[in-house]
Amino acid sequence: MKIFRTKNELKEALAELRAQDKVITLVPTMGALHEGHISLIDYAKPRTDIIVCSIFVNPTQFNDPKDLEKYPRPIENDIALLEAAHCDILFLPSVEEMYPQNDLPWHIDLGDLDQIWEGEHRPGHFQGVTQVVYKLFSLVQPNQACFGQKDFQQVMVIQRMIEIKKLPINLLICPIIRNEKGLALSSRNARLSNDGRDIALVLSKALNHIKNSNKEKSPAELIAEAKEIIKSVPQVELEYLAICETSSLHSADQFEEGKEYVALITAWLEGVRLIDNILL
Ligand code: PAJ
Repeated sequence: MKIFRTKNELKEALAELRAQDKVITLVPTMGALHEGHISLIDYAKPRTDIIVCSIFVNPTQFNDPKDLEKYPRPIENDIALLEAAHCDILFLPSVEEMYPQNDLPWHIDLGDLDQIWEGEHRPGHFQGVTQVVYKLFSLVQPNQACFGQKDFQQVMVIQRMIEIKKLPINLLICPIIRNEKGLALSSRNARLSNDGRDIALVLSKALNHIKNSNKEKSPAELIAEAKEIIKSVPQVELEYLAICETSSLHSADQFEEGKEYVALITAWLEGVRLIDNILL
């Protein structure tokens, strides 16, 4: 695996590969890699010639400076995991490299997509995410980019940005990787106690309850039932639980034939904010 720390080095290497008509797939990350991240590399592998993974803890998407400061940066371990997964190129820029002093301000009009759910609870978060992902897209000019369904709203936001900016990039949405008990993998799980990791299973239990109903009840009824499941565990504090139409992420009043729906959940446990979802 080649490691580049500057845009120029990366551009040069990619120009050569593009001249050879190689299919290039970008996997953006913030590092502290786990099996969920590596699954994106595995997903891309049979679908591409070259995998470019980026590790960059993007300051503009953190609304809490302490969260940014505390973000784990186990870079040697990350490199070993990417080597083992046969990633081709790792892009590892500094903050100055990504945000030079003369950088232009960024705003993209996403309608209400960056205002609802995660956007409401993390103001400015998706502007920061789109800012850095647009920079990475412009630099790498990949044919494809892999994002995890784990962050469902992020996927929808990136899809919307691709449409607005008319980028010739195919978005690959990779399934959520869970532990053997069903907990969605996240670097934040490491901050939970052993008991906490079991208690957190109530999130996927509530989501599965909604899915297993096969849309035979109304969204409101299913949300009420799922909230009862969450309430049975007093340590878990629900932030939001919603059943939405997938592309607008607007709450569904009823299930309509031919439309796709997703159930979204975010909750706090032991001071950790957990997020999960399930396609219905
Ligand atoms: P990060 O949280 O590091 O996640 C990188 C990618 O890994 C995202 O696409 C995320 O959805 C995916 N991922 C995380 N946990 C997963 C799991 N359990 N199963 C499947 N995929 C999983 O998301 C970001 O970084 C940033 O916002 C970024 C897009 C890199 C922009 O800074």
